[in-house]
Amino acid sequence: METLRRVVQHDFYHLPQYHRVEERRLKAAALLFSYCEGDYLIALPLLLRSVEILLGWNDATSVYGYAGPVASHKRMPESVIRNFQAALREALLERRVIAVFSRLHPLIPQQDLLSGLGECRTIGPTISVDLTQSLQKQREQYRSTIRRQINKRQGSVVCLNDPEKRYLTEFVSIYEETMRRVNAADTYFFGEDYFNDLARELRSILHLFVAMVGGKAAAAGLFTICDGVVQYHLGGMRNEFLKLSPMTLLFDTVRLWANKIGAHAFHFGGGVGAKEDSLFHYKAGFSDRRHDFATWRWVVAPETYRELCERQAQSNQLQGLEPASAEYFPTYRCPTVPHVPAKLATIEIKKSEPRIYLSPPHLGEAELELVKDAFASNWIAPLGPHVDAFEQEFAAYLGVPHAAALSSGTAAVHLALRLLGLRPGDEVICSTLTFAASANPIVYEGGAPVFIDSEEATWNMDPTLLAEELNACAVNGRLPRAVIVVDLYGQSADYEPILDACVRYDVPVIQDSAEALGATYKGRKVGTQGRCGIFSFNGNKIITTSGGGMLVSDDPALIERARFLAMQARDPAPHYQHSTIGFNYRMSNVLAAIGRGQLRVLGERIASRRRNFERYKAMLGAAPGIEFMPLASYGEANFWLTCITIDPEKFGATREEVRIALAAHDIEARPIWKPLHLQPVFAHCRVRGASVAETLFSCGLCLPSGSSLTDAELDRVCAIVLAT
Ligand SMILES: Cc1ncc(COP(=O)(O)O)c(C=O)c1O
Repeated sequence: METLRRVVQHDFYHLPQYHRVEERRLKAAALLFSYCEGDYLIALPLLLRSVEILLGWNDATSVYGYAGPVASHKRMPESVIRNFQAALREALLERRVIAVFSRLHPLIPQQDLLSGLGECRTIGPTISVDLTQSLQKQREQYRSTIRRQINKRQGSVVCLNDPEKRYLTEFVSIYEETMRRVNAADTYFFGEDYFNDLARELRSILHLFVAMVGGKAAAAGLFTICDGVVQYHLGGMRNEFLKLSPMTLLFDTVRLWANKIGAHAFHFGGGVGAKEDSLFHYKAGFSDRRHDFATWRWVVAPETYRELCERQAQSNQLQGLEPASAEYFPTYRCPTVPHVPAKLATIEIKKSEPRIYLSPPHLGEAELELVKDAFASNWIAPLGPHVDAFEQEFAAYLGVPHAAALSSGTAAVHLALRLLGLRPGDEVICSTLTFAASANPIVYEGGAPVFIDSEEATWNMDPTLLAEELNACAVNGRLPRAVIVVDLYGQSADYEPILDACVRYDVPVIQDSAEALGATYKGRKVGTQGRCGIFSFNGNKIITTSGGGMLVSDDPALIERARFLAMQARDPAPHYQHSTIGFNYRMSNVLAAIGRGQLRVLGERIASRRRNFERYKAMLGAAPGIEFMPLASYGEANFWLTCITIDPEKFGATREEVRIALAAHDIEARPIWKPLHLQPVFAHCRVRGASVAETLFSCGLCLPSGSSLTDAELDRVCAIVLAT
């Protein structure tokens, strides 16, 4: 302790108490190597373990967490560093230490003290909140989803500081439930004894925070305070409360507490193994401040090290094992896995199998009869009884009073904008993560698109960013003419907060539900929440008329006017008279006949696509680095396309490598939409937020999702994905 009092900065990871805990857990001996020269001091805590296959030899590691060397001065003279290094080498060799591995502290400058001794490797970023900033500045850095979760949960989630650690057993159970949920490696299961030990040794340094929901502990975390740094150690959430994101409120509570006790930093750490994984992205939502987490590896006795690695390799070979990772240090300690010959690892795929499309049309039995009827009545175009019937049946299915059948979804967006009074120069807000057809009609009318990023929770328009944009527009005295909200890949956007924000400024919402026919939001079909909804019957949609669209609304005048404009705006006169410029946007009677047949099998199509999703999830869900588009709890998706993201580091291949491998086997898969703000034609447009959509574009893939896919075909797709 005396030594640590003299250093510029240390953390609890450097304390003797924490080393005692780790000595017991790792069955190792803690040693503090300290070097003094005049006023200068450098200290390095390590844990020595004996190397079983080479009697009498040891190697050194660091405690779980961020340790590494600490020094008495911010800048240490080069000569003192050299002398420290020489003394350290000598001391380690005296104790027959072959190699040293230590995790370094992201907030303490340490690498200068080690330069020239082995290698420091940057592993990944960590995140901290700078508590020297005002509370407001700190909170301004919160991602909108985090802010929204906090606002929503205030009241229902109550966080408490538990200085007596009465909830410690509960904490262990929550932590282990979390580790099981994320399939964590065995090394993350520390056992209850470890936590009791930690609480006993660290006493006043260690703080247990618990988030309670209705009298039950929903989330809990262990935090330490040492030398002005609050550090998140370990924590987790109960499965049953995941939807409430109690951890978010817990972190916010700890941040406020850390401010109150005068800490200068709240260090969250990073992702699992310092990867930029979902845990990292979640933590990154609390602050923009990043640090580098690095490790230090040093072979002190190279010849012995080489000999040991060779012995280990031979022993592995005899047992049919191989190292699980090429990165592990020291190599001879690397966990092993059974050696799999390359031949067995590849999956044989027959070349002659038919092409698998992303989302091909799937006709039912009624369509042909209905089309025959159109032919038999010689009423194939324009309009006709099938158009009227299709509109009525479609409106009844959605539970909306009025619908106009049109030639395409794009035409429906265009008419909606025209009917809402879009004028040249007007702005229209639109989701950025979508197909170009959502925004193109804004430009047809001379309007200016303004794009909004997605929220991570659903990939749909982020309601908080929308509210921010509308507030900013109001301040500038220039409100948009409309907001186009896309229900992406078959899942509804979160309409309550979206409509709240729009109602405040009386801005109408157009729902682009082209991809989401049959999906629901809070029990009602999507497309019925806003001023009007649009649908597409393009060949790749969940039901198709080969090409077509529908505009729906509660407002009879709006739909009537849409029909008028869609038929070249013909005035009621016996001759051809036009006092408005119109369009040729109506659906033909033949296509409406197909649409009526398709509508009858929509329920089956949704069920088939849901089955696709479930089979993909069962086969790919456990693969490291693969995540599925999250399903929102507020409604039912129609599962139009099954979409995944691929973390190349965890999965071992990029999204593009997977897509290309599928294409090589005649399987069509597509990257997630390129965000519109990145499209050359929209490059000049304003965008609020961007990172969520950009990340999804970089790693997202739409898998084949047709409703006629067989189990064998789905398995074929999965086999190729897994073999990439
Ligand atoms: C989100 C979205 N909006 C609009 C459209 C345009 O529909 P259509 O192709 O029927 O014009 C599509 C699909 O094509 C779409 O996916």
